[in-house]
Amino acid sequence: MALKLAVSGKGGVGKTTIAGLLARSFAARGKRVIAIDADPVPNLAAALGLPRDLPIAPIASLTELIAERTGTKPGSYGGFFKMNPTVDDIPDKFSFEKDGVRLLVMGTVDHGGKGCVCPESVLLRALVQHLLLYRDDTVVMDMEAGVEHLGRATSSAVDRLLVVVDPGLRSLEAAKKIQTLAADIGVRTAGVANRVRNDDDRRRVARTLPDLEFLAWLPFDDAFLAADRDGTRPYDDLSQAPAELSRLADTLETLRS
Ligand SMILES: Nc1ncnc2c1ncn2[C@@H]1O[C@H](COP(=O)(O)OP(=O)(O)OP(=O)(O)O)[C@@H](O)[C@H]1O
Ligand SMILES: [Mg+2]
Repeated sequence: MALKLAVSGKGGVGKTTIAGLLARSFAARGKRVIAIDADPVPNLAAALGLPRDLPIAPIASLTELIAERTGTKPGSYGGFFKMNPTVDDIPDKFSFEKDGVRLLVMGTVDHGGKGCVCPESVLLRALVQHLLLYRDDTVVMDMEAGVEHLGRATSSAVDRLLVVVDPGLRSLEAAKKIQTLAADIGVRTAGVANRVRNDDDRRRVARTLPDLEFLAWLPFDDAFLAADRDGTRPYDDLSQAPAELSRLADTLETLRS
């Protein structure tokens, strides 16, 4: 099976930037890559360089598809529906491709109270399971800060949950929480330090998170800020990206070769 990664971390640490660059790096190496935007506020499309005006409807908003696949009527809740909807055609039909990366935007499910089992979440869960367990594409999943929605059923299929941190205290504290949650559901983690300016930053991160194995130390990089400001993807020419990034992709690839 191809490499399966999820990317987590406190808000704003660089998850989407790093997920986008990793997805592009794997594709540039000839891998078939599916990038999953699992953030309720999706913005992986921009990081991948997809056109800004592309009308991307999140899967969770495709009411007719959800109704058809789960055997429900749009907008109706309760009653019976299929718990194992067909999803294997969704990655090809509903993704957006750029330079060998296919993007799937999941969208949000409006849970009617905790533990609600609604057709949208059943479909999304089946889709993620399919991508992680049965489909042989490299997967890079950009997540929101928590890892709660990475369910037990799929957690063991993730080769690494990358925990992105920057040297700020809050990001380091968030990383500790993520590590604990990940251990609870049996996901293996690895650290990616971002916005590292100097040895002092490096020591702070390593000292605060002694149990997290860091696979990369990415520098503070003005090119990211410029890309953000201009609404472009960072390093349109991937060969110009920091060497540390391709070393990270190398290291991750060895997990599955
Ligand atoms: N190494 C870096 N050097 C400088 N700026 C960076 C670096 N990494 C990311 N950034 C910038 O930080 C901002 C947040 O990055 P990004 O959107 O990737 O974070 P995120 O963790 O996905 O955020 P969110 O939690 O909102 O989804 C962006 O403007 C990005 O360009
Ligand atoms: Mg993000």
